[in-house]
Amino acid sequence: MKFFIDTANIEEIKKGVEMGMVDGVTTNPSLIAKESQPFEEILAGICKIVDGPVSAEVVSLEAAGMVAEGRELAKISDNIVIKVPMIVEGLKATKMLAAEGIKTNVTLVFSANQALLAAKAGAAFVSPFVGRLDDIGVSSMDLISDIVTIYDNYGYQSEIIVASIRSPQHVLDSALLGADIATIPYKVIAQLAKHPLTDKGMEQFLADWEKRAK
Ligand code: E4P
Repeated sequence: MKFFIDTANIEEIKKGVEMGMVDGVTTNPSLIAKESQPFEEILAGICKIVDGPVSAEVVSLEAAGMVAEGRELAKISDNIVIKVPMIVEGLKATKMLAAEGIKTNVTLVFSANQALLAAKAGAAFVSPFVGRLDDIGVSSMDLISDIVTIYDNYGYQSEIIVASIRSPQHVLDSALLGADIATIPYKVIAQLAKHPLTDKGMEQFLADWEKRAK
């Protein structure tokens, strides 16, 4: 399973890269707004330290505007992926960008039918948001399971990025269902490494080591 890091913060990305846990990066306008540099500079900085796909989101509401933004963002680096919203105009933009060889990540996906449309439009990546579904009491992992089944049924090549991940359980459930990618905030990546018995075991080993014959 591939791990993307869901942040625009360069320090968090560096920490994830050092752990060997970053196969790509996803950003969105809200994450970009938390940083102090201009959008293009943030993306250029990220692409210098990450080889894998780096998603950059467009903000136009019409396909022509999305395509124009996408073309500009794609010039920043070969690994930029254009994130477009799951609306009809976004599907049109996905098709047009795919025809130009520019990869897209269709975002804000909340139903299996939306994921089906995104795949048919030629999205390289599709991002169902699990945390936001859980927030409104909808079983988000049923959605991931349905998308995996539909893509397998028809051989769609779009990769499923499980997004809006809030906990290690989301990562585990996504992996068990065979999702291609989880995009994870740094805090949750760090949580994945933790177990209280690991800490307790380390403490015991170090205490016993001090008691060894010298
Ligand atoms: C995905 O690409 C989005 O950036 C992200 O996962 C959204 O997560 P949130 O629901 O925690 O904002």
